[in-house]
Amino acid sequence: MATPTTINRQEFLQLFGLGAAGLLASACLGGCGMSGSGAAPGPVSPPAAGSVDFTLDLAAAANASLQDPAVGYVYGSSGSIIVAKTTAGGYVAFAAACTHQGTTVNFNASQQRFICPNHNAVFNLSGGVVSGPAPSGLKQYTTALTGTSLRVTG
Ligand code: FES
Repeated sequence: MATPTTINRQEFLQLFGLGAAGLLASACLGGCGMSGSGAAPGPVSPPAAGSVDFTLDLAAAANASLQDPAVGYVYGSSGSIIVAKTTAGGYVAFAAACTHQGTTVNFNASQQRFICPNHNAVFNLSGGVVSGPAPSGLKQYTTALTGTSLRVTG
């Protein structure tokens, strides 16, 4: 009867041709570098006060998920701001960085809550902490809708 052989992690990876680069590449296949509502950017810092001023064209295909009731959000300002459409029809914008450890939050349209996927902090439509380890709410920015242009400032 054969004796089982024990190998360590490095030997296992070498055996199956998965070096560190291979692991990184496979991990990135699911979303590295993607933009739009489906792929949250990596951890980001909140923008400096007064430095936010951008406009979203709500008619643009790139912002279609903002109008999709099942999604209802996009990221703006290089991923540092999350903009969501509420079921009431308004728009809200917050710093996308979770106040716990900076992970980018996403928006759950059916719950009307911002969710941090890292440790599950939950924020309401005012940016306030509902649950989880976040020590404070998300910084809110001003939204102004003119026609199909949504300007975000703050
Ligand atoms: S980083 Fe968001 S809950 Fe920890």
